[in-house]
Amino acid sequence: MSIAEKFVSMEYGPAPEDPKEATAWLDRHGRRFGLFIDGAWQSPAAGEYFDTFDPSNGEKLAAVAQGSAADIDVAVKAARKASVHWRALTPHIRARYLYALARLIQKHSRLLAVIETMDNGKPIRESRDIDIPLVARHFYHHAGWAQLLAQEFPDHEPCGVVGQIIPWNFPLVMLAWKIAPALATGNTVVLKPAEFTPLTALAFAELCQEAGLPAGVVNIVTGEGSTGEALVKHPDVDKIAFTGSTEVGRSIRSATASSHKRLSLELGGKSPFIIFDDADLDSAVEGLVDGIWFNQGQVCCAGSRLLMQESIAEPLIAKIRDRMSTLRIGPPLDKAIDIGAIVARVQLDRIERMVAQGVADGATCWQPQVTLPSRGFYYPPTLLSNVHPTSIVAQQEIFGPVLAAMTFRTPKEAVELANNTVYGLASCVWSENINVALHVAAQLKAGVVWVNCTNLFDAACGFGGYRESGYGREGGREGLLEYMEPSWFKHAPKMPAVITPAPPQIEAPPETSMPAIDRTVKLYIGGKQTRPDSGYSMEVRSPEGRLLGEAPLGNRKDIRNAVEAARKGESWAKATAHNRAQVLYYFAENMAQRREEIILHLAAAVSEKQATLEVDLGIERIFSYAAWADKFDGAVHNPPFRNIAIAMNEPIGTIGVICPTEAPLLGFLSLVMPVLAMGNTVIAVPSERYPLIAGDLYQLFDTSDMPAGAVNIVPGYASQLLKTLAEHDDVDAIWCYGDETTVAAAKAMSIGNLKQVWTNEGRVIDWFNPKIAEGRWFLEHATQVKNIWVPYGE
Ligand code: NAI
Repeated sequence: MSIAEKFVSMEYGPAPEDPKEATAWLDRHGRRFGLFIDGAWQSPAAGEYFDTFDPSNGEKLAAVAQGSAADIDVAVKAARKASVHWRALTPHIRARYLYALARLIQKHSRLLAVIETMDNGKPIRESRDIDIPLVARHFYHHAGWAQLLAQEFPDHEPCGVVGQIIPWNFPLVMLAWKIAPALATGNTVVLKPAEFTPLTALAFAELCQEAGLPAGVVNIVTGEGSTGEALVKHPDVDKIAFTGSTEVGRSIRSATASSHKRLSLELGGKSPFIIFDDADLDSAVEGLVDGIWFNQGQVCCAGSRLLMQESIAEPLIAKIRDRMSTLRIGPPLDKAIDIGAIVARVQLDRIERMVAQGVADGATCWQPQVTLPSRGFYYPPTLLSNVHPTSIVAQQEIFGPVLAAMTFRTPKEAVELANNTVYGLASCVWSENINVALHVAAQLKAGVVWVNCTNLFDAACGFGGYRESGYGREGGREGLLEYMEPSWFKHAPKMPAVITPAPPQIEAPPETSMPAIDRTVKLYIGGKQTRPDSGYSMEVRSPEGRLLGEAPLGNRKDIRNAVEAARKGESWAKATAHNRAQVLYYFAENMAQRREEIILHLAAAVSEKQATLEVDLGIERIFSYAAWADKFDGAVHNPPFRNIAIAMNEPIGTIGVICPTEAPLLGFLSLVMPVLAMGNTVIAVPSERYPLIAGDLYQLFDTSDMPAGAVNIVPGYASQLLKTLAEHDDVDAIWCYGDETTVAAAKAMSIGNLKQVWTNEGRVIDWFNPKIAEGRWFLEHATQVKNIWVPYGE
């Protein structure tokens, strides 16, 4: 073709990136990789290997070790051994190692980008300009955190040995998001890369060697799902961090329930991409290109559900189709390619199957006329319109370049549709009206909201989900907290097993001057005292066996009613923080007025000394959380773009609280107050030892302007009520304080909607020590961070 002809056709010529360096790297390893354990390459115990392929042409790239449970064991032992030395280093020395890794990533960035593209199929433009710079940024940023750790997080300790399992869509980015914060906080790591994309993790292992990282601090064990499973089940791992499918996330929650492993899960999404009629449509369409066609749509936070205001649907669809027609699909090493290959045949099949199902459900499918390469796994950019909100393509993650479009009329409808999903990872709002955009952003149940932008990430800004998109954050301060624990908690002794009181055996002593039953309390649901559904009550006796009163025996129905009331009480979340503080102060004031009476009641169940302490410290604790209510603020981050990211501490929603037995009043207040202060609603099961405390509490709530439903109290046997709470899909989190068996049950039962579970891990908590039993640690668990990204300037 002559130059003149090229000017006319404006066709792209081929612009392939040279893979020479990457192939030389593969050849240098004989195209066969062992496991990276204890600072050296080791052969897998069973001698098994699997192949990794280039999905753009189906060619084998290398054989990679299939790690077994035996290999995982060796790696965990190496990490444990290294942990002693690594955590003893000064923060500055750890910072130097992280900094060295960041520098090496930059130095080898071209090689890493090419290997990533060859192994994953993503366009080189993305691996070179987005993935690898993000990886380096993550290590730089966390080198900084390592340096500041002691100053910024005093009295915290690393979890210890961390098991990390990552997916194939952003192999090196996911590795960085996991390894950088873990090392910065003094943990050592065993990481299992995804089986489709192990190569950049192995290249990273070499960088660890080059940086002189002490042996055993980072161990890379390649393998399939079973290798990940062995890591999850290993008894000497202190924390599991997982990114991948919701299904595997559930199985990991289940497998770790009876252990004390901390868990963070970053799972799937079906993120809404909302375009209002006043949006800059051309920008929004460019946003969509990055929202759903970035990385072939294999992005957990892909804007896969397009919600368009009805009035602009037609012109918008026309613009989207025009833009789709210009997307270039082909060999990902070509620098002018927009859409590369799908990672593997099985994923391609899945995309094809789901699109066919969407069409069968009534959607209209549109794809531009493109010629797909004859070899490799490719799927054209796809637009499904007329999608019904309940259709499988509107509800389930497709993980491919497929956009499902729907319309809405009003902002309210947009929010309803956007939140009509089990997920809550990310969302986009496009509007030129800042009021509308921020009003909608505030109502979206998602960990990230991008206003007039999309798919921006930064190490300073936490990333993670609401609801079934998982829990925990990666990046930012909150991301670091996932890898540390308060020192006192790490060393707290195990509490003795709590024996659920059987129906009392002891005969009540003969009547003296006191009436035998001085109190009968009720349930407190939706701001009203109600009788238990069962019609039964439980006798409450003093340690000496004296009958103190009768508490209602709550059952499943009562819990369900309480959850319904709590959902209706969500206006509490919308109250201003000042307003919440006022209500809590008023509550404390009312308790102070009735101090003597409450001490007298409580003293019958615990000693008088304890009762006095519980009430006095309790009043102080309420004050403390009234004070915190308008002070546990978020942050404004400055990522390296023309954006700010507003990190808001949002309430989690409705929290079920199983109160500790040992301090009936102070335990209740220590848990329920932070939950309320942050705007959550609560269903509390009070101490079985003295559930009658509910009687004092609801009178106080009634007289403190607490809105109906914000707090609900259901006395009963914790072991029975826990099940209904944990299995209820309208409960967003469980706080369970009890012995090891109870907390394990709380975790195991919360798998359904993957609710967050926070427990004392069966350890003793000194409720009488404010340094332990109140403050940020509780507030952090009562909130989840939402990052709202807002562009500014030119
Ligand atoms: P997956 O969840 O099976 O794989 C993710 C990682 O978990 C891999 O390293 C895998 O080896 C490991 N794994 C698998 N089973 C395990 C187990 N029982 N215990 C411990 N580790 C285990 O995801 P897969 O099969 O690759 O993709 C299936 C679907 O999952 C995708 O179509 C997509 O919808 C979703 N997905 C979501 C991702 C996200 O970032 N949210 C990432 C990858 C997949």
